[in-house]
Amino acid sequence: MTDNTLRRPALSRKSSALSGKVHVPGDKSISHRALMFGGLAAGETRVTGLLEGEDVLRTGEAMKAMGAAIARDGPAWVIQGTGNGCLLEPQAPLDFGNAGTGSRLTMGLVGTYDMTTRFIGDASLSKRPMARVLDPLRQMGAQVLEAREGDRLPIILRGPKHAAPITYRVPMPSAQVKSAVLLAGLNTPGVTTVVEPVMTRDHTEKMLAGFGAAIEVETDSQGARYIRLEGQGTLTGQEIAVPGDPSSAAFPLVAALIVPGSDVTIENVLMNPSRTGLILTLQQMGADIALENRRSAGGEEVADLRVRASELKGVTVPAERAPFMIDEYPVLAVAASFAEGETLMQGLEELRVKESDRLAAVAAGLKANGVDCTEGEDFLAVRGRPEGKGLGGGEVETHLDHRIAMAFLVLGLATEKPVTIDDQTMIATSFPEFMDLMTGMGAGIETPKGVT
Ligand code: S3P
Repeated sequence: MTDNTLRRPALSRKSSALSGKVHVPGDKSISHRALMFGGLAAGETRVTGLLEGEDVLRTGEAMKAMGAAIARDGPAWVIQGTGNGCLLEPQAPLDFGNAGTGSRLTMGLVGTYDMTTRFIGDASLSKRPMARVLDPLRQMGAQVLEAREGDRLPIILRGPKHAAPITYRVPMPSAQVKSAVLLAGLNTPGVTTVVEPVMTRDHTEKMLAGFGAAIEVETDSQGARYIRLEGQGTLTGQEIAVPGDPSSAAFPLVAALIVPGSDVTIENVLMNPSRTGLILTLQQMGADIALENRRSAGGEEVADLRVRASELKGVTVPAERAPFMIDEYPVLAVAASFAEGETLMQGLEELRVKESDRLAAVAAGLKANGVDCTEGEDFLAVRGRPEGKGLGGGEVETHLDHRIAMAFLVLGLATEKPVTIDDQTMIATSFPEFMDLMTGMGAGIETPKGVT
């Protein structure tokens, strides 16, 4: 992907009103976990609504390499798991491509097995810090036999003969780190405890409980969560219906808000409170987003989102909300580009270690398209122009980051001049249907002529 000849640019232009009812693909976080936990549990797991994006499929390949059987059966994915404690040593390196979640959670999963596992990934993943996961795993007895400087991929991990249960206070708000330690705890005798001072998405806790793990969560008066998992228990296969991904829904949602006259419904979107920070923020900005048909599906809240074009005004987004919308800042910055006044987003330090340095990539993309913004070490301030007058006309570097690519294609739907991105290929990691879904609503997004 670093080879320029493999890049596929894309362009978006000012569009007239977007409309329609759309379905976004399954939630990425839940899809990764469904394949992992299903691959580990005894018996059969059936998954419907799985996100068939590249990141998730690589997690499936990794589980197959460790003994799970995974196959598609009509609309469902059927998994025969190994049984907890029974993963096999993979014979070849596990290639996680662009996927932080797949690689970090799998490091946890295998980190307490007496076997050697090699992890590789693309240029983006190979730059991302893995010490945040390897440090607690080392405390549990894992050895890092090889890693690039700063605990980066490629990594060779070797688990201990007998793992030690630990109590680990997660130093940064990270569901991936929390999950890696809990998954390592599955093959560890005794109780592994994760202390989470700031709550992050809770899919691992919820889904492990559904598979029958002995896991309990207690929240103290300061809001810190104590998650205790008794290791070496039985996990049993489940039926899982994956709801639509709110982080993918964010793109058609913001597009509908900023393109005048739009009226779009996005059906069956996950409404887990640890994922709805963007909706809350946009509503505070004046967005017309109605949550219709709220219901419970497979242990999670879901709703249909009816979104109508709205006049937005700038707000301050508090740092405490960041974990509940961490993947949505690029597209929030796009919404802010059309809002009256300034939108100040605080507590963004984790954006620097995503698929790209998202804070820098967003600020650079906005500036290239004439949007007035200020990038701080851990904040972004965007001063919008409601009509999008004079905006656009720039080319955006996506840095192998799917969310940067999609966010800036949304920007171009309401700017005066078109917006070009240097590469659309990474969109397939999380939202393979993006181009068709957006153009189906009437969005003027295209692959420039001459690009294959
Ligand atoms: C995820 C956690 C978040 C998020 C990522 C998915 C998960 O990462 O950005 O897209 O599924 O646990 P961090 O844990 O690094 O914040």
